Amino acid sequence: MRIAMIGTGYVGLVTGACFSEFGVDVVCVDKDKSKIERLDRGELPIYEPGLDELVANNVGAGRLIFTTDLNTAVADADAVFIAVGTPSRRGDGHADLSYVYAAAEEIANTLVGYTVVVTKSTVPVGTGREVEKIIRRKSPHAEFHVCSNPEFLREGAAINDFMRPDRVVIGTDSDRARQVMRELYRPLHLFETPIVFTSLETSELIKYAANTFLATKITFINEVADLCEQIGADVHDVAKGIGLDGRIGAKFLHPGPGYGGSCFPKDTLALVRTAQEAGSPLRIVETVVDINDQRKRSMADKIIKACNGDVSDKTIAILGVTFKPNTDDMRDAPSLEIVPALQAAGATVRAYDPEGMGDARQLLAEVTWCDKAYETLEGADAVALLTEWNEFRSLDLERVKSLMKSPVMIDLRNIYNPVEMVESGFDYTCIGRPKGTSGAAV
Ligand code: UDX
Repeated sequence: MRIAMIGTGYVGLVTGACFSEFGVDVVCVDKDKSKIERLDRGELPIYEPGLDELVANNVGAGRLIFTTDLNTAVADADAVFIAVGTPSRRGDGHADLSYVYAAAEEIANTLVGYTVVVTKSTVPVGTGREVEKIIRRKSPHAEFHVCSNPEFLREGAAINDFMRPDRVVIGTDSDRARQVMRELYRPLHLFETPIVFTSLETSELIKYAANTFLATKITFINEVADLCEQIGADVHDVAKGIGLDGRIGAKFLHPGPGYGGSCFPKDTLALVRTAQEAGSPLRIVETVVDINDQRKRSMADKIIKACNGDVSDKTIAILGVTFKPNTDDMRDAPSLEIVPALQAAGATVRAYDPEGMGDARQLLAEVTWCDKAYETLEGADAVALLTEWNEFRSLDLERVKSLMKSPVMIDLRNIYNPVEMVESGFDYTCIGRPKGTSGAAV
């Protein structure tokens, strides 16, 4: 089979490379000539563990190519995937669909033979129908059907999430399109992966409902963590105790500084808007959005409180600025709220992140960027762990203390064990665990 993948971002590049690994001939298309040239030189525009090797192997096998020429890519394809960005429109939270519709306009002129047009990007309910209208209007005689095929890829685990998905969701009204998609995902049948066939609109809603439920689950445990701090309970034991209930599940019950990334923040907001416009507001999700925004800001207060309520003229070391580990993605990262708030309170900030500093330098001003974790700690009055990169998990605590002016640690990811930290002489603050507990984030 042959597919065209329009968009070579986090979703398009991973999805295209993984399909080519299945033996599908994939042409990845992007308007950005420099991006295509970098990809042709084997330079990936994003950091995703394992992706460089996957791309190199399949480019080498001749199954994966990169081009700016959408026409040729689409003309030969059995399916064309629209995997372009759908960023939040800052003004009102709606998803910006201009890139999706622009792709639909271009596809309309180039369809040859029967083609399935697949919306892979996360798009509001009704977008697939609109794509159908756009193409039909421009090419009334084109043979095509539109299908929704949302992705459930986590950055940093995207290849595994594609190769071993919990399910594949396919939304279309056409048996012929269903057949093409079933053939495309046939390699996953080997793992007996469930395929949910449903309507376009239902498939589009499934994606948003999944992300907003996960964001809600995270926000729930974050609030429970705050309660634990007031009543002396241990949030990790609470998470374990409820997570063992099959109806709840153990995943996504790790408390932290609030969710970030390219998906949860924008998808929760987009679904809230869709629901409000439909006259059926999702009040729980509206509250989740507000709580999460507030939480990121309150984390700076937590750090200031750990520094006796005053960080003016103090140096704060920040370890980790990306929204989660194993990614270079800074979108809606808690650090983007926390660092400026500390600086506004008079702190001098030093920071280090294994992958995120490229973008972070453009997003966070007046920060002293360091090349190593220990260098960041030099002369610091306190250190705050914002992202749970593996390299932060076993710092030499004696060395940490020797480098810092005062042994104050604010661990917003509960990487360390409170008892051990107090025994090691740290003034240790974490999330949802009393000082004396030994529970550590697993
Ligand atoms: C998410 C969804 O998981 C994925 O299915 C969808 O396709 C895209 O959006 P991603 O945004 O890459 O993936 O990261 P994820 O691992 O879900 O984490 C999102 C945010 O939630 C991060 O800021 C992370 O730190 C936070 N998080 C996650 C928690 O605070 N606690 C948790 O237990 C899990």
